[in-house]
Amino acid sequence: MAWAWEEEEETEGDGPASSSLSRTLADESSMTTGAAEPMEGRGDEAIRAHCLRVATWSSELASAIGLSESDRNLVEQAAIVHHVPQILVDDQARRRLLAEMHLEAKGEEPFISEPVRAVLETLWGRRPIADPAMGKIVAVLEISDDFDQYFESEPLLDPGAEDQCTNSSVEAMMTYLQVTSRADVSRVIDRLPVFPRAAREVVRQVANADAGPREMEAVASLDPVLAGRLIQTANSAYYSPRQPIGTVFHAVSYIGTETARRVLLAAVIRGNFSSPQAHRLWNHSLDVAQTAELLAIQSSVTMDPSHAFLAGLIHDIGRLAFAIMPPAFQQRFQRLTDGSCPPVEVEMCLSGRCHGEVGAETLAQWKFPADIIQAVRWHHRPECSSLPLASLLYLAEFVTESQEDLPSFVRLNTATRLAGISMDALAEIRQNSTGSLESLRFAA
Ligand SMILES: [Fe+2]
Ligand SMILES: [Fe+2]
Ligand SMILES: [Fe+2]
Repeated sequence: MAWAWEEEEETEGDGPASSSLSRTLADESSMTTGAAEPMEGRGDEAIRAHCLRVATWSSELASAIGLSESDRNLVEQAAIVHHVPQILVDDQARRRLLAEMHLEAKGEEPFISEPVRAVLETLWGRRPIADPAMGKIVAVLEISDDFDQYFESEPLLDPGAEDQCTNSSVEAMMTYLQVTSRADVSRVIDRLPVFPRAAREVVRQVANADAGPREMEAVASLDPVLAGRLIQTANSAYYSPRQPIGTVFHAVSYIGTETARRVLLAAVIRGNFSSPQAHRLWNHSLDVAQTAELLAIQSSVTMDPSHAFLAGLIHDIGRLAFAIMPPAFQQRFQRLTDGSCPPVEVEMCLSGRCHGEVGAETLAQWKFPADIIQAVRWHHRPECSSLPLASLLYLAEFVTESQEDLPSFVRLNTATRLAGISMDALAEIRQNSTGSLESLRFAA
């Protein structure tokens, strides 16, 4: 593995006030009592999730272009039911259908409110656009629907076309919702704490598969924090030694070289996640690292498990940069992700970049090896890279249920093939967990 830092010189040197979406969702059952049942009857949770996301995007876009609160509520409600079969929206047709089925329509209440029906029928081209306000409402819904569908179909697109998105709805959505430029994201990366040269040296020495117990001991003995982590791990409840362990030598021999390697790598990287907002992300990174290591052991492709572990530890480092973006970004990001839009999709819309790409840029500055940089870059679009490590990270995200991007069976299939992991092995890994690194987690 080529460590770029080996020859390196030291150079360190407004949105909607409060979305009515939750109220809309609470009202969903009363608004679409009959409609929700056929959707669930088909077991189509994916469509339901898509409708929720489209409602969230619609609300944010409606607010960004200055629609009134009532129009924003209307477009949200229409988005929630925009996949209801057209015949169910048309009250007369619904009554005819029920009559043909020898069933009686119960009550006189319309199935879907007239304003929502007007939006849907205009969207479907069954009514002319009544006025400019309706034109805007329908455009918001159409763009939001297209935008989400673009990300749903992304795994099927030509991987060579990356970064050259010409989808008009994606462009329109970004025109109104993007709050920071790609260049500004790079400036934020520059504000992240540097990865100290001493830490890089520890990673370089420890991640080397040939490094044995003597190297572990030598590295840890130079830094009291690392030594403390090794001794703390050896004395943890998971290992429960009969006698307290007080020396690095004893700790390494007791927990074994491989665990000592993991502890030292994690202890060195952990410092970058010390702010309270990053604690959950660090705990997730530990989970992904351990999963990636297990997957590397299972893989039919030759991969160094400790290299996979290291990649897992820093796979989401790009999210640290997004965490220190200006308030306008944070508020919009929070509203959209609270409304079930996945972080990767939201990052792309708000900045034109996802945390994989941002993480790769960060790691390039930190002089990490090229394969880890590329794996981190593509860990949410593994079909764009032939590197098994990128797919391995994607699978580790999947196993740990990170929910950072849209679920995709096509992508999952591609990743298992590229990483040399069978679906059966993936299911087994899902049930595996290890508590050996528990002492390196932050309290929940
Ligand atoms: Fe849709
Ligand atoms: Fe992740
Ligand atoms: Fe990620």
